[in-house]
Amino acid sequence: MRNLKLVLIVIAVALIGFVGFAMYRDGKARIDHGAADGPLALTGTAVERGRYLAAAADCTACHTLPGSDEYAGGVAFRLPFGTLYSSNLTADPETGLGGWTEDEFVNAVRAGVARGGRHLYPAHPYTSYAGMARNDVLAIKAYLDSLPAVKNAVPVSELSFPYSQRGLMPLWNALYLPSVGFKADVAHDENWNRGAYLANELGHCGECHTPRNAAYAARDGQALSGAVTQGWKAYDITAAGLATWTAEALETYLATGHAPNHGIAAGPMKAVVAFDTEQLSVDDRRALVRYLLGDAPRTAAPSVQSVADPASVGAKLYAGACAGCHAPDPRAAGDGSATLTGASSVRDPGGTNVLRLLAEGSQHGADTGFAMPVFARGYSDAERAALANYVLAQWGGLTPKLTPNDAEIAALP
Ligand code: HEC
Ligand code: HEC
Ligand code: HEC
Repeated sequence: MRNLKLVLIVIAVALIGFVGFAMYRDGKARIDHGAADGPLALTGTAVERGRYLAAAADCTACHTLPGSDEYAGGVAFRLPFGTLYSSNLTADPETGLGGWTEDEFVNAVRAGVARGGRHLYPAHPYTSYAGMARNDVLAIKAYLDSLPAVKNAVPVSELSFPYSQRGLMPLWNALYLPSVGFKADVAHDENWNRGAYLANELGHCGECHTPRNAAYAARDGQALSGAVTQGWKAYDITAAGLATWTAEALETYLATGHAPNHGIAAGPMKAVVAFDTEQLSVDDRRALVRYLLGDAPRTAAPSVQSVADPASVGAKLYAGACAGCHAPDPRAAGDGSATLTGASSVRDPGGTNVLRLLAEGSQHGADTGFAMPVFARGYSDAERAALANYVLAQWGGLTPKLTPNDAEIAALP
């Protein structure tokens, strides 16, 4: 009995000590963010630089509801433990950031601590932005302040306990928030370093491409090695993962959302291309590619042997529903973006993105009347699974056993 009491006291003291340490680290983390100026060579007024930086940091993808006022917030993030809404970043004094000081804004963006000490959740990617240069963040503020102020009270987040407790975030920050800003790596040239800043700090590529642990934090030592995000597979984009991409192909993909023999950017990557990488200057995009590919030698893609059964249900469905737009077999040249040859989606044994695409389609070519339709309504779960199994066998040389249940899960919103 006495022993139990002692153990409880020791645990309580350890806990208090840890929380104290966490608070201390949280305060410190807000201080050491690196140099005031970032490595990008930008010219123009603060507003012009801010517009470019906001694009490179893809602020709009999360803070603008499609079809609604720019940066007025309200985009819903459905998490396993509830729904969170992005903030209104316009200068409206009641519902937006009107009247925020420079320090308040910088702290919110990079340290996840908003006005009045309110802790933000890492759905706002401050873990990546932590390394952004102060003057870059302030240029974004100047740009946001130049936009029309929009009165839009975003819904209050609905999270279940204990996730609803913002006060617990200092603990999380102490464990997972990197406390150093961007530092140029002298072992590499200026281009490479610019690319590193564009990928890791501004572009926050790791938010989707780096696997997370159970506490939703990036796993150590696995940066950019591939992860599933919002039901989509964000592939391995380390130099090894991209070994079959030439610099030209990767530049084309990031500039247009498609590269011959590599497929398309669908799902969440479509917005990344449209609002971020497509907007970069040619020089900056090249630097990003230079950083991602490094100096590792390029290898040719392994040739794929089709193992599809032409008599399968999937093959028959494909001939009727898909072959009109996509090539009927791997050797025939399909229309540009609709070529399945070489796409990572058809070489992923889990078939994650193929099933996802069949469920929600892709509107990339919508303006030309040539887009990937939604197959979730007219086709059953079993039919979509059969189609995916066929496509992976025909173009990926794989023998997956995707089930109707897999197709059903992929079609959940
Ligand atoms: C991946 C999505 C995402 C991106 C990208 C993103 N944000 Fe956020 N942001 C959010 C969410 C969600 C919240 C609300 C978080 C919360 O309530 O804890 C938020 C909150 C904020 C806040 C706090 C405002 C307040 O009401 O307290 C500021 C400031 C902010 N974001 C600025 C930015 C800027 C500037 C950028 C680009 C550099 C950016 N955000 C990019 C999702 C994002
Ligand atoms: C919001 C999540 C998200 C962010 C942020 C993101 N990606 Fe992606 N990325 C994805 C997804 C999902 C895919 C798979 C798309 C598909 O299958 O069509 C993808 C695919 C890619 C591919 C194609 C890989 C292949 O093997 O086909 C490249 C290259 C890529 N991303 C680069 C980047 C870079 C560079 C950044 C940062 C500037 C970035 N991504 C940021 C989600 C994201
Ligand atoms: C009306 C034309 C059309 C039809 C019909 C169609 N697709 Fe597509 N599909 C497209 C287009 C266009 C794209 C590229 C979309 C983009 O760029 O966002 C695409 C993309 C894809 C991709 C992604 C390839 C990659 O690069 O990752 C897969 C897989 C796919 N389609 C499979 C199918 C299957 C299976 C069917 C039949 C059930 C089908 N499509 C029917 C037009 C079509």
